This record gives sequence, C-alpha cells and structure tokens, in this order.
Amino acid sequence: MTTAILSALPEEQSSLVQHLSHPQRLMHAGRAFWLGELHGRAVVLALSGIGKVAAATTATALIERFGVARIVFTGVAGGVGDGVNVGDVVVAQDYLQHDMDASPLFPRWEVPGYARSRLACDGVLSALLLEAAYACVSSASGQFGLRTGAADVLEGVLHRTHHGLVASGDRFVSAADESHRLRNTLRDAGHDVLAVEMEGAAVAQVCYDYSIPFAAVRTISDRADDTAHVDFPLFVQTVASRYAEHIMLAFLQKL
Ligand code: ADE
Repeated sequence: MTTAILSALPEEQSSLVQHLSHPQRLMHAGRAFWLGELHGRAVVLALSGIGKVAAATTATALIERFGVARIVFTGVAGGVGDGVNVGDVVVAQDYLQHDMDASPLFPRWEVPGYARSRLACDGVLSALLLEAAYACVSSASGQFGLRTGAADVLEGVLHRTHHGLVASGDRFVSAADESHRLRNTLRDAGHDVLAVEMEGAAVAQVCYDYSIPFAAVRTISDRADDTAHVDFPLFVQTVASRYAEHIMLAFLQKL
C-alpha cells in the first residue's frame, strides 16, 4: 500500500525527500515524482502545483500511474475563521470550492453531478493527522527555534490545531474585505470555513471519483488579508517546511 504525500511547495517536498530511503525520481506529465520509503512505508512524493487543475492532474497521475492507495496533502492556507491564526494548523474535515457557482442551474457551491457542495476527508487518516499535528504544534516554538522574519511573531504564542471545513478556489485571497465577504457569505449558508487555499477540494474530488481515502493538513501562513502577500512568502521560507516534515513523519509512524 503506497501512500502519496502531496505538497504544495518545493520547500516542503525537499525536506521530506531528504528523509527518503531508496529514493527514485520519475518524470510523468511534466512533473517529478519521488518514490521511496519513509519510516519503512512505501511513499510517492509529489508537488500539487498551484490551483485546482494542476492539483487534479497530479492527483490523477498518482492514482493512475503510481497506483497509490491513499493521498495525504500537506501545505499552507490563509486563516479566515475566528481564532485561526498564523502558525496554527488546520486538519481538513471536509472541502468546498468557494468559486464553484453553476447557479441558477445548481445551488451555489454545489459541484454539478455530485449532488453536494462539500466532500468529506477520510476519518481515520484525518484522526492520525490530528494526533500528529497536536504533537507538532505543542512543541513548535521550542523545537523549531523560530527566530527570523514572520517567525518572530510566532515565538511565545500558543498555537492551536483546528479541525473543520476548508475552502479551495483559484484565487490567492489577499484583502481583508474579500476574506470577510467570502467567510460571511458561506457562513450564512451554513458553511463555517476555517481556512482558504487553492488545491485541496480538487484533490478531494479526484479521490472521491476513485474511492481513494484523502486527508489534508494545512499550516496557517497568513490571514488572507491585506498583508497576506507579505506574510505568505515569509512563512513559507521560515516555518512551513519544518511543520510539513514533523507532521508528516509523525503521521507515517502512526499509520
Ligand atoms: N494559501 C495560503 N494563503 C492563501 C491565501 N491567502 N489565499 C489562497 N491560498 C492561500
């Protein structure tokens, strides 16, 4: 049973590649796939690319070409829920596409042909990710020796692990008014979104089509507000890869 670990960012992938036993790099569909073992588990590491289409292509290749039995996503997201702050970790319970709108033919946010707007993540994998994330977050400041740039903000702050709805769309949300509008419109319709990103819902849909278990963990890099474009790259450079490495290695040991 091979586990695919899909990373959003090269920084996250490279720290996991360094831990691979018997690493083998294969090119397929213009993408690099790393095969090997982590903690004795067969894995394929891949980059999702940015946006829903790129992520769906990578997920489909992982299933069709590499025969993976499950896909786990690790990446960053913009926090939009109350109290979902930079340095927190969100484990997705389910996914929605915030830019899906085939109304009036279908209700807003419903994925045509699926009779639903939200696609659930696998409960067992998500529970293991939550355990790994709790352990990582509780030791984060000390363990990672956060020192520079955006990371200064994180020192001494108590970070939280959240579990709930994540929304994906082909848009980097970088204005407070847009983020509030997005969050409030969805909340009024009963969808309480914790965070936004650009790939997860697409991977969830591919995994749903193939009946493959899927789970995702996202570290909060910004608040999807007017400083998101500054906070995002700083966080990615300083913190994101260490979170990804620690959470994924802890997760694989529990698998
Ligand atoms: N990923 C990380 N931050 C994000 C944001 N603000 N919008 C969309 N995707 C993100």
